[in-house]
Amino acid sequence: RRSPPCTMVIFGGGGDLTRRLLIPAIYNLVGSQLLDEGFSIIAVDWSDLDTETLRSQLGETMRQFVAQRRSSASELHEADWEWLSQRISFLRGGFDDSQTYQTLSSLCGVGNCVFYLAVAARFFAPIVGQLEAAGLTRETESRFRRVVVEKPFGSDLISARALNAQLRNALEESQIYRIDHYLGKETVQNILALRFSNGFFEPLWNRQNIDHVQITAAETVGVEKRGRFYETTGALRDMVPNHIMQLLAMVAMEAPISFDADAVRDEKSKVLAAVHPITANDIVRGQYTAGSIAGRALAGYRDEPDVAPDSQAESFIAMKLSIDNWRWAGVPFYVRTGKRLALRKTEIAIHFKQAPYALFRETPVEKLTPNIMVLQIQPTEGVTMQFSAKMPGPTVKLGGVRMKFDYADWFQEGPSTGYETLIYDCLIGDATLFQRADNVEAGWKVVQPAIEAWKDGGRNAQSKLQFYAAGKAGPDAADALLARDGRHWLRLNG
Ligand code: BG6
Repeated sequence: RRSPPCTMVIFGGGGDLTRRLLIPAIYNLVGSQLLDEGFSIIAVDWSDLDTETLRSQLGETMRQFVAQRRSSASELHEADWEWLSQRISFLRGGFDDSQTYQTLSSLCGVGNCVFYLAVAARFFAPIVGQLEAAGLTRETESRFRRVVVEKPFGSDLISARALNAQLRNALEESQIYRIDHYLGKETVQNILALRFSNGFFEPLWNRQNIDHVQITAAETVGVEKRGRFYETTGALRDMVPNHIMQLLAMVAMEAPISFDADAVRDEKSKVLAAVHPITANDIVRGQYTAGSIAGRALAGYRDEPDVAPDSQAESFIAMKLSIDNWRWAGVPFYVRTGKRLALRKTEIAIHFKQAPYALFRETPVEKLTPNIMVLQIQPTEGVTMQFSAKMPGPTVKLGGVRMKFDYADWFQEGPSTGYETLIYDCLIGDATLFQRADNVEAGWKVVQPAIEAWKDGGRNAQSKLQFYAAGKAGPDAADALLARDGRHWLRLNG
């Protein structure tokens, strides 16, 4: 079904996120015929642009975007782009200037509006304050007014709470759409589909059958041009309270009573509240030094642009989490995420318990292939199961085998990048894939003890940085974290 007519006002409309992700996603929605004739975009920014220049710049980016596609649609569909670009206009204005909002008021009229905050976090509260002051956030029977907030949502529990309070001063919770782009990834949504639309996974999905879970979000990219941001952010804040906690919630939550936004978010809330706040002993902080990936020599983190030569920011985190509830008591959730690792891979590996008894004596229980189900999120999208099977031959010998479901093989195309779903859902008013205030705060609550412990800038023993060369799987201490429990990480290889 097509979305209702709506003006989408993008603050930061001249910026990187708009070009790289929002416009391509909206273009895809045009192609899927999901947008109404009455859809339009007002890009607000203070950069030196005008509507014509912006349209032609975006057209260029779009041509590059489609050219990267593997599939047949690697040329821009001119009619779709024409449809969209004619609906894009530029408004030059400061985010703190009330004049900007008066102009918006007259441009938006009485219709539906989505205000998309594709701006640095320090502008979130001021923009929302100005929108409210100008009467732009007021909803009526016949019109909705929604605000989409990008991350980072706060920099710790206290600031996240404060930001929630500021937003709630101006808006109802139902008007706030907090983005976590991981929730737009189809493979992340597939976790719930897999668990709750099949009969055979869920009965095994508990402490009786699962030994432990490993969540990996490994990147090969370094800090790129974001040194200034990353210096005060680091891997923990950048990835854990948001993306990683969402992955964990999807894997560990109970079945919601329906797929309504609040039913799903209630269950997430419960499981996140049951995650034990991290203790210093269960966390490893790493930072990359010079190394190489695929034969390419790479600089260390401290030599990256805008990074201090003695920086204490971590580019890697490994942690052991526990969930204090009936389903998961005693099942560790090991998490690792980092930049400049051996390869790009986001996955969740469910390690099942071994068979209870060594029936096949040539292969004792501890030598059996571990039963692991891997939910592959990116770059390969699918599910694999690893188990033992009898090897061909006259004697009973067991070997490890792997069963594989691959999105691209099965559905002939890979899933989309994710912003399509999120933007469309916001237009139709479905908040299931957006974070509620309590979900965001629950994520911060888990990592808050680490943030407190590191306040001295990494100079005490608990927060000591461990170094790893770019292209490795992380620091040795991350391996020690699992070795301590007699376990090891799945290897970071293809
Ligand atoms: C962002 C982080 O939220 O997620 C980045 O700020 C990180 O540092 C990115 O690289 C990872 O997203 P994806 O979709 O590439 O896994």
